[in-house]
Amino acid sequence: MVDRQSASMSSDSEVILCLLPSVLALFLFLILIRRKQQQTRLHLPPGNMGWPFLGETLGYLKPYSATCTGQFMEQHISRYGKIYKSNLFGEPTIVSADAGLNRFILQNEGRLFECSYPRSIGGILGKWSMLVLVGDMHRDMRMISLNFLSHARLRTHLMREVEKHTLLVLSSWKENSVFSAQDEAKKFTFNLMAKHIMSLDPGKPETEQLKKLYVTFMKGVVSAPVNLPGTAYRKALQSRSTILKFIESKMEERLKEGKENIDEDDLLGWVLKHSNLSKEQILDLILSLLFAGHETSSVAIALAIYFLPGCPNAIQQLREEHTEIAKAKKQAGETELNWDDYKKMEFTQCVISETLRLGNVVRFLHRKALKDVRYKGYDIPCGWKVLPVIAAVHLDPLLFDQPQHFNPWRWQQNNNSGASSSSYTSMTSSNFMPFGGGPRLCAGSELAKLEMAVFIHHLVLNFHWDLEDDLDQPFAFPFVDFQNGLPITARRHQNQSHINPKI
Ligand code: HEM
Repeated sequence: MVDRQSASMSSDSEVILCLLPSVLALFLFLILIRRKQQQTRLHLPPGNMGWPFLGETLGYLKPYSATCTGQFMEQHISRYGKIYKSNLFGEPTIVSADAGLNRFILQNEGRLFECSYPRSIGGILGKWSMLVLVGDMHRDMRMISLNFLSHARLRTHLMREVEKHTLLVLSSWKENSVFSAQDEAKKFTFNLMAKHIMSLDPGKPETEQLKKLYVTFMKGVVSAPVNLPGTAYRKALQSRSTILKFIESKMEERLKEGKENIDEDDLLGWVLKHSNLSKEQILDLILSLLFAGHETSSVAIALAIYFLPGCPNAIQQLREEHTEIAKAKKQAGETELNWDDYKKMEFTQCVISETLRLGNVVRFLHRKALKDVRYKGYDIPCGWKVLPVIAAVHLDPLLFDQPQHFNPWRWQQNNNSGASSSSYTSMTSSNFMPFGGGPRLCAGSELAKLEMAVFIHHLVLNFHWDLEDDLDQPFAFPFVDFQNGLPITARRHQNQSHINPKI
């Protein structure tokens, strides 16, 4: 009896096992059909989903000159319009080169859309990095960063540091020798961040060691995320853990002194004293701020050094503006730049805006739709990836007259664009998003502009410079980089010696 029962049970389970693959296949088939039906019911933007798995990722990431939108974007926009669908980074995606949609996406962060960087970025920058955090934790980390980069701190603290570090770099420039302007810009922004974040002094062995580790780390951030022996990504993960150990040792040194005695002059001291963040969170915060604050501004400075020689009138006008400021300071018996001087750098701000518009340090952002969204008659399905391409808007001929042309005067209140100047400027400003927008607007945008302005001040007052390699131009990989490091030669101005390194 028992035998018969167990025999019938085993034959039942055999039947179930035999049927299971067919049931699963049917189930998957039904899901696919349902998804297809849903998609045909939706009015998706036109586009091409490319190859299975890879989609169109390789074409999208193919390097191109940073001052244009690249062949992939140009072809897609001319074929499908400014909003199109694709399959990128392994996910169905809506790509937007539309200024209105980009603004809409960024302003609806957390409601309709959410920051969604590829998992490999979280792997390397850390799961507590601001770039990958969302919700309350993002808000808390953002508050800390904003506090650390506040307007008040910029005026009282950072202004002086920025000038010191500019002078340190510029005073080391040798006349009549070729050197990499990109490396010099990186030296400046790295030293500034290392000092401001962990009070590391430039040139000290530990700072230089950290800089070296950081170079390997950066190569991995921008490489294919393949974690195999010998790959840039694997090496970067190793550098990451050495960098974290270094930051941790600095943390322990501070904590030994007792929480109440910690000096809160730098970010590390401030978070240890005032926040409830865990050790792991502090480490990722420090690392991601070092990354966010160093890579972007150095590229922006290198871009200004690259664009300006092609526009001698802009260099002339910059020299006039900065000579005026320097003269007034001399008369007042002052040596260091202050906030009032910075506010006088009006044309410099136009040069900065134009450099960021044409060079596009950050070209596109990663988001995903949290709900089904309808925009201009198109459906953006919940869960789809959304890429607002800010570079495409900055280079759109319908929004910026002769967009490939470096023209700082377009940012002047009373420019001669023909159109009513104030409406032109406000229209241009609302389409200008080099620092992103909405609740995730770059926390360091004011510091970045200050760094560029102070660097330009001492650069134009003290040097003439020439680009040594006509062929070295910024490329979008999609991160912006000069393949040969932007080699230049520099000559000091005769009868002018404003550089006065007091470090
Ligand atoms: C020219 C230089 C810079 C450019 C073009 C730039 C651009 C950007 C952009 C586009 C975003 C938004 C990312 C997104 O929404 O997904 C961003 C975020 C951020 N940036 Fe910058 N950035 C620059 C310099 C800096 C500096 C100097 C710092 C700080 C030291 C900094 C710190 C940050 C932080 C902390 C965030 C994350 C903000 C958040 O998620 O709330 N950036 N940056």
